[in-house]
Amino acid sequence: MIDPSARRSGYSYGPGTGTFAGRVGVRVAGTGIALPSKRLNNADLMKLMDTSDEWIVQRTGIRERRIIDADKKESTKTLGAAALRTALAEARMEASELDLIICATMTSEMQCPATANLICDILGAGTTGSFDLNAACSGFVYGMNIAHDLIRGGAYRNIGLIGADTLSTLMNYNNAGRGTAIIFGDGAGAIVMRATDDVNKGLIAQAMHCDGTGWKEIFVPKCERDFPAGAVIDPATMNKVHMNGAAVFKFAVSTFSNLIQETLDKGHVKVEDVDMFVCHQSNSRILESARERFGLPHDKLYVNIDRFGNTVGASVPLCLHELRAAGRVREGHKVMFLAFGGGLTWGSSLWQM
Ligand code: COA
Repeated sequence: MIDPSARRSGYSYGPGTGTFAGRVGVRVAGTGIALPSKRLNNADLMKLMDTSDEWIVQRTGIRERRIIDADKKESTKTLGAAALRTALAEARMEASELDLIICATMTSEMQCPATANLICDILGAGTTGSFDLNAACSGFVYGMNIAHDLIRGGAYRNIGLIGADTLSTLMNYNNAGRGTAIIFGDGAGAIVMRATDDVNKGLIAQAMHCDGTGWKEIFVPKCERDFPAGAVIDPATMNKVHMNGAAVFKFAVSTFSNLIQETLDKGHVKVEDVDMFVCHQSNSRILESARERFGLPHDKLYVNIDRFGNTVGASVPLCLHELRAAGRVREGHKVMFLAFGGGLTWGSSLWQM
């Protein structure tokens, strides 16, 4: 694997640093979430596999996750559409007023068309441009950076960004799958980003990285050739998540802290000036290690993994929506969004809200 600290990408914004400064600002005009109706707590998992509440809570911090109910026609597109509908209501907009809809997902409804296209149909978005973005757990943060710059550059004024995933469809809820099935949950979150005359609002710094040599640490094979050379192939694990938990854990702990430092450096911002860290909820121990390294107070690094598990592309917008609803992220705040996951990918987005 490539040393995550070896390469730098992205750039800084603000006076004297970016070519876009002074044109248009970007604000979050609305947020929304959607969660499946079915709850799967640790006791439920104990009936399906050899595990315990104590083991799961100690290793991951997760107590419950939500999973889709196919009988109720819940899926990536229905969750994503519901989340964006709520975000649009807060922004007092119709879907057809959006210039673009981006859906960050690794569990697209089908191969073609993109889930974002299907969401356009559900919401009556007319001929609004739309596409999916797959950067696994980093997808939503990648999407924030892309959508922001499309607005900042002047090409678009209103963009709906969704993070929606239904990893339960890629799990084996049995002993063989216990290393992954305990972690992942389903959900969706969305934001509406709008251009504003307040040029101080928007990104301060961002980063997007990938170490493709680490692809085999988390992958979903479709056929035999998708497996790493020499792997023993169990047909029951086809189209299921394969994860080297220990390797991902090690990658995440070092990457997370390095990414915070890189983003602070790029933005010329001190850690104490950041009002909130909104992080991908992968494992509470990974979050805790970063919190300790930077000496952050507990209330500056939000954790909701206990209720939702790791919801992949949905986890960052789920946190943001809850924080805004509670008044803990509001206008004037500096907020750092961080994520890492399959790819291996990692990315950040530091905002002046
Ligand atoms: N319940 C009980 N025991 C389990 C278990 C479960 N659900 N899953 C695995 N075990 C067992 C293993 O079989 C192993 O037993 P052994 O020592 O007898 O072989 C033991 O627990 C330790 O397994 P290991 O995989 O080393 O555990 P861990 O401490 O690394 O925890 C994860 C496993 C998956 C929780 C942890 O590696 C992790 O969180 N990794 C990061 C995953 C992640 O964030 N993925 C998303 C990226 S966005």
